Amino acid sequence: MASGRPEHRGPPELFYDEKEARKYTQNTRMIEIQMQMAERATELLALPDEPHYLLDIGCGSGLSGEQLTDLGHYWVGVDISEHMLAVAQEGEVEGDLFLCDIGQGLGFRPGSFDGAISISALQWLCNADKKEHHVPKRLFKFFSSLYACLTRGAKAVLQFYPENSAQMELITQQSMKAGFTGGIVIDYPNSAKAKKIFLCLFTAGVTASLPKGLGTGVGENGKPNSIPFAEARREVRKKGSKVSLKSREWVIAKKERRQRQGKGGVRLDSKYTGRRRKPHF
Ligand SMILES: C[S@@+](CC[C@H](N)C(=O)[O-])C[C@H]1O[C@@H](n2cnc3c(N)ncnc32)[C@H](O)[C@@H]1O
Repeated sequence: MASGRPEHRGPPELFYDEKEARKYTQNTRMIEIQMQMAERATELLALPDEPHYLLDIGCGSGLSGEQLTDLGHYWVGVDISEHMLAVAQEGEVEGDLFLCDIGQGLGFRPGSFDGAISISALQWLCNADKKEHHVPKRLFKFFSSLYACLTRGAKAVLQFYPENSAQMELITQQSMKAGFTGGIVIDYPNSAKAKKIFLCLFTAGVTASLPKGLGTGVGENGKPNSIPFAEARREVRKKGSKVSLKSREWVIAKKERRQRQGKGGVRLDSKYTGRRRKPHF
């Protein structure tokens, strides 16, 4: 079955071709969501109330960057798709634009930016699109070059769509290896539609604690919806732990999955669900 995730359909520089770049920027719902997430990411940066010089990673057609302009900041955008950047240029965005594959590292001078945001781009780095692509190395290259081009005391907030807990762990691991502290902030953790995941990264010198996610104040299973790195790693490890095949949990999870997919023939749970049966000879 074909995956619904765009990053499974090919490398970003090919996926975001001329047609896709135009389609992306004409979708009013998409514009609204991207701009809202850029505003939220900037809020999580918690910058002092004055203009700053910011980096927009995977800036695309400039939707997230436009939000930075509206909030009074100066910005530089990097993206791998020349077509997305062309749309940004046509739209006469205020930011300076650079064509760049972030997996090869950001080539800016040390300490160039007061902060960075990224909206819906980071998950693309988790796919090896070329033979020479080594995902952990590309992530590390990206995070270490990001660390270098930020001023000390700066933060970076990256909203992304992890595919699974292993991906989230790999991303947090590589960002920590590059020297960042911080963690994951989850907005609306109990809503399938509104749930948003932000990786909040701190360079040396940040004394602030991790901000709280929006929503109920508590996340899934009553846990807080902002998770510092050490705990985030423990969380994903727990979530990733295997449920043994044919156990009661396995049967219930499978039933739920089939119900969500609208597949028929799903029996109601009973106290016998997943019960071990005696062999019949
Ligand atoms: C979903 S779009 C988001 C664009 C923009 N941030 C917004 O809010 O509208 C994801 C963007 O990430 C860019 N991207 C994906 N992988 C990249 C890479 N390795 N280097 C640079 N940009 C990348 C894509 O080209 C695309 O423009």
